[in-house]
Amino acid sequence: MYVCLCNALTDEDVCRARAAGACRPAEILAACNCRAQCGTCARTLRDIARAHAHELADAAD
Ligand code: FES
Repeated sequence: MYVCLCNALTDEDVCRARAAGACRPAEILAACNCRAQCGTCARTLRDIARAHAHELADAAD
């Protein structure tokens, strides 16, 4: 699923960036060699990063 239309970034791209240590939207975009343009995706990037962090925490338990 595309989460950032400006950069053609998918949820899988975001999860890979999160797994590599990116937490904030700007960090996620940078990890994907992208940059913020319209900013519409920021909330979605945060939500996906947060959900991915919970999945990692659950997997570690
Ligand atoms: S949708 Fe991500 S910067 Fe525009």
